[in-house]
Amino acid sequence: MTTRRDFLMQGMAATATLALPRQLRAAAPEFQSLEARAASVQLAPASYPETEIWGYDGKMPGPELRLAQGARLQRSFVNRLPQASSVHWHGMRIDNAMDGVAGLTQPAVEPGQNFDYDFVAPDAGTYWYHAHNRSTEQVARGLYGALIVEESTPPDVDRDEVLILDDWLLNPETAQIDPDFTSLHDRSHAGRRGNFIATNGIHHLSLDVRQHERMRLRLVNAANARIFVLALKGMDGWTVALDGMPLARPEPVTDALILGPGQRADLIVDVTAAPGELAHLVRLENEDASSQVAFPVTAKASATHRAAPDPLPPNPRMELTGLDGARTTRLDMQGGAMGTLDTAILNGEKKSFRELVEANQFWSFNGTVGMTDVPLIDVSQGETVKLQIYNDTSFPHAMHLHGLHFREIGEDGGLGPLRDTILMFGGQTRSIGFAADNPGDWLFHCHMLSHASSGMMTWIKVT
Ligand code: C2O
Ligand code: CU
Repeated sequence: MTTRRDFLMQGMAATATLALPRQLRAAAPEFQSLEARAASVQLAPASYPETEIWGYDGKMPGPELRLAQGARLQRSFVNRLPQASSVHWHGMRIDNAMDGVAGLTQPAVEPGQNFDYDFVAPDAGTYWYHAHNRSTEQVARGLYGALIVEESTPPDVDRDEVLILDDWLLNPETAQIDPDFTSLHDRSHAGRRGNFIATNGIHHLSLDVRQHERMRLRLVNAANARIFVLALKGMDGWTVALDGMPLARPEPVTDALILGPGQRADLIVDVTAAPGELAHLVRLENEDASSQVAFPVTAKASATHRAAPDPLPPNPRMELTGLDGARTTRLDMQGGAMGTLDTAILNGEKKSFRELVEANQFWSFNGTVGMTDVPLIDVSQGETVKLQIYNDTSFPHAMHLHGLHFREIGEDGGLGPLRDTILMFGGQTRSIGFAADNPGDWLFHCHMLSHASSGMMTWIKVT
């Protein structure tokens, strides 16, 4: 078995600077920076003014970070924002100290300060990075980007397209971002939902394609709260990975593909629409279908028909095979509008729901609101954990576990694909299992970011 240390060692061997004597090392180039700053971009149609955003390197989405599996990412995060921030590498099974959770794995980086992120990417796949301090605001203002880790043998496709889906809450006159990030309604209901849909920061993204072209589409849901329900039109497709992790067998996309906030899906699609026609990535909403991304077919490609894609090569360290002797814990989620929460503990004190509302807090995990000093689960490295989650609320929640991927445990005991975020609808009970193989303090929270900041946050300790 290859351990995390082995990966670190491999990464170090590949980085020549570390082997150099001290004097020479000082002369080696500094980490490349990743600077969070205010900027303005043309988000709404050209008849509107530009929108003031916060972006990494002033871009929205931030620069696409791409590296080979096993390579090392080194970035010096520079904070040029008016508030403290940090960067989380969502889905990456890395050293806890690099996880970027302000207040848990590092102090928030104050304005004018910087923080060096340095880790080896153990797993190939589609990941993303985003701000992890005051995330409801910072992610809604645009602080995110794609993080792509390439397989050593990539699949045979003609193109690789990263599609980051988001919705923005904009003032309909000025096209500026609605600055009410603590809205009581958003926090107690479905979260902050936007009125302006975009892909890669573009309202109606359109990509020219050729008939029979085979593309890898890397879908990332970066929205604060929106669940994207997607379908393909004029394209045949297979899901080959979820949340970065390859599926054992590519699954044909037959009907809707559901992506909760934080979730990703890698699709391999073949354009079937004819030249002159449009293929689409379609967004389904209340029975309506709208185009999320249009693919005008401009010509024919040389290849005509190809066999179904092979599975992507598996990532290392996927050892959850059984649940014998698993440490079993239950997580009851309560609260929100139309919920069943009467009282809960907030900052060590029992509060009525009315008092919680006054504190703008709405959700509890096992009767406690928000982060405490006590982890939900405290396990030793190597233990197996089974977590039974009951969503006793009227809203969906996208529960994201940092630093570890889990598998859903079916009612028959079968194990689902590896994921880092599970989308749970109201009233559902679902179980997940994972091998606690990565030591550290790992956040476990709802990725509907208004929910996370109004109670839905806990952590898991692996020592
Ligand atoms: Cu993508 Cu704790 O976050
Ligand atoms: Cu939630």
